[in-house]
Amino acid sequence: MPRISPSLLKKASSIRPGLHLLIPECRSLQQATLEYKWLSEELPPEKSILWACLQRYNHVPLQYILGSQPFGALDIICKPGVLIPRWETEEWVMELITTINNSTLFNHETPLHICDTCTGTGCIALALNHGIPNSTFTAIDISKKAIDLVKLNILKNKVGKGRLIQRNILTSTPSNVPPLHIDILTGNPPYIRKRDFNRDVKTSVRLFEPKLALVGELEFYQNLVEHWLSKTDSFFYEIGDTGQFDYVETRIKSDSKLSQSWSIGLKYDSNGKPRVVYGFKNNSKGARLLPLFENFGTLKHLATTETGAK
Ligand SMILES: C[S@@+](CC[C@H](N)C(=O)[O-])C[C@H]1O[C@@H](n2cnc3c(N)ncnc32)[C@H](O)[C@@H]1O
Repeated sequence: MPRISPSLLKKASSIRPGLHLLIPECRSLQQATLEYKWLSEELPPEKSILWACLQRYNHVPLQYILGSQPFGALDIICKPGVLIPRWETEEWVMELITTINNSTLFNHETPLHICDTCTGTGCIALALNHGIPNSTFTAIDISKKAIDLVKLNILKNKVGKGRLIQRNILTSTPSNVPPLHIDILTGNPPYIRKRDFNRDVKTSVRLFEPKLALVGELEFYQNLVEHWLSKTDSFFYEIGDTGQFDYVETRIKSDSKLSQSWSIGLKYDSNGKPRVVYGFKNNSKGARLLPLFENFGTLKHLATTETGAK
């Protein structure tokens, strides 16, 4: 990372007291000025701007200082101990909402049930529930802090009540998780490889966000294939590299039953990075989803349709 020049720090401190303290985290005067503006507009009245700038200098994430992060139409409360929602997640979740709502294939009179694993603040579950008329949701997380925060986020955002479950999804079977049938399964599991953690993760994340939410190998994708596919008509799981997509694709393709019943695709984010592995079942509902999800990302594997066509 390039070093910061003393003249930039001097320039910043001459513009506003404390502004220079934001430069190390923001890396540019433009970004620091924008953050300063957010801090001065949104900081709770009992906190001083100089205190906030010092927190930022000590790498505390902005969202923990301000207490929230916008996510689509929602304002998600953020607290230490629970991962802050990222723009990459917001991006695909918003596209998923638009894709579903633009489709005449969904009859909003029949409720769609969403199940969100590794829910954290609940941002994905609540945004989908808020954006898709007549939907219901279940949100699951291992962490009590996360589940408590989802409750606050439901109240704050006036989202309909969902079912919240505190559970380790790797050690419990989804058959114990209500409801029996899921229309849309989502998840943003911990997916930063242990070997990449120190190299790729920035200081503020490493110091202040929970490692439990960040570090994972392939176990959540294995859990998806082995335990959740039988319960849902479609799934959308965030990924951090193509290895995670390849794993899901290989597992599905190499299983004759799964390969016949699931079409899967890969979605890139607007930075050109692989971001979502998704799939839908080749049942009567799933087959009708095909045109919809052709535009969501790139379909890599098409299950043989009920009529035999590819
Ligand atoms: C990457 S965060 C995602 C949070 C949120 N969905 C989002 O997109 O901002 C992963 C979440 O998975 C949860 N988690 C980690 N291991 C888990 C497990 N074995 N079972 C259930 N949840 C788990 C963490 O507590 C954390 O909230």
